[in-house]
Amino acid sequence: MILVVCLNPALDVTHDVAAVDWAGVNRAHTVHTRPGGKGVNVARTLRAIGADALVLGLAGGLTGTAVEAALGRLGLPAELTRIEGETRRTFTVVDGQRGTSALFNEPGPDVGGGEFGAFRARYEAALPRAAAVVLSGSLPPGLPAGAYATLAGLATAAGVPVVLDTSGEPLRLGAAAGPAIVKPNLAELEALAGRPLCAARAGGLAEVAAADGPDPVTAAAGDLVAAGAEAVVVSLGPGGLRAVTAGGVWQAVPPAVVPGNPTGAGDAVVAALTFGLVSGQPWEERLRHAVALGAATAAAPVAGEFRQADYARVLTGVTVSRKEAA
Ligand SMILES: Nc1ncnc2c1ncn2[C@@H]1O[C@H](COP(=O)(O)OP(=O)(O)OP(=O)(O)O)[C@@H](O)[C@H]1O
Ligand SMILES: [Mg+2]
Repeated sequence: MILVVCLNPALDVTHDVAAVDWAGVNRAHTVHTRPGGKGVNVARTLRAIGADALVLGLAGGLTGTAVEAALGRLGLPAELTRIEGETRRTFTVVDGQRGTSALFNEPGPDVGGGEFGAFRARYEAALPRAAAVVLSGSLPPGLPAGAYATLAGLATAAGVPVVLDTSGEPLRLGAAAGPAIVKPNLAELEALAGRPLCAARAGGLAEVAAADGPDPVTAAAGDLVAAGAEAVVVSLGPGGLRAVTAGGVWQAVPPAVVPGNPTGAGDAVVAALTFGLVSGQPWEERLRHAVALGAATAAAPVAGEFRQADYARVLTGVTVSRKEAA
């Protein structure tokens, strides 16, 4: 079983409106409600590719109850620790006429130290059954930046490999706790490095030229490896993935840029990398599946969903090349 930690889940509400009047009353012709948050996306993708996932998270108030019920309707096993604050909602308004959508995201409840302690006890109880742990998404307000580092440290001490996908200080601290894989996207890696790593150019991104030594993305990922991560996989949007590991550096590229909604593509990558980790796939194979799942998810309208046919089609066209030895 793969343990997927979701400390700040959400109830994602989407209103489809024919043409939005931003100064008037709008009537949605369709309303979708689904459980959200990055961990939930990862767990859904894991299940879709045949892995057992258990969502371990926090839930509070009526929205927390709704998230729990929605997870049950999807058939996703979850153990949610009750908290006092109200679980957050995200609200998306899709404007059919303009073809645009606007997202409104609540920050999430303030989580107290006692509540995190109760969560941690359930997490430690579940660890012996876990083949891997996924720590994914932002931390809710109130939790210290080192919360993921604490959870990663407990898992690695128990011999359970950790896949970490977050940003900022929680990423920096978490990487030092020895996760098996860290997956920043380019913006997250640049924020951590404190410098631009790629420059915009017609048709895509080009890495900022390096005077000598490894290219800038590999160098910045290498810093995270030096800090304690066993491997760093940087997602570069339509540019694919760069993996920096003790055994070498790889680049995996999708066959084509997919037009669509890339939100959640990174979560699909995390699911594929975790599945590859627990099933012992070699890096080339892991990256091939991760890029294909990312592209298939970008092609689907809803975050956390993809069509198996897209996944299978892209999989045959992914190019994986070894850039350099470590
Ligand atoms: N438009 C696209 N066309 C083809 N492949 C894509 C596209 N967008 C994303 N991908 C694939 O999915 C991977 C993950 O995407 P991205 O780098 O956008 O992750 P992310 O920013 O972490 O996303 P999120 O956090 O919203 O899930 C990419 O590395 C790439 O392999
Ligand atoms: Mg991401």
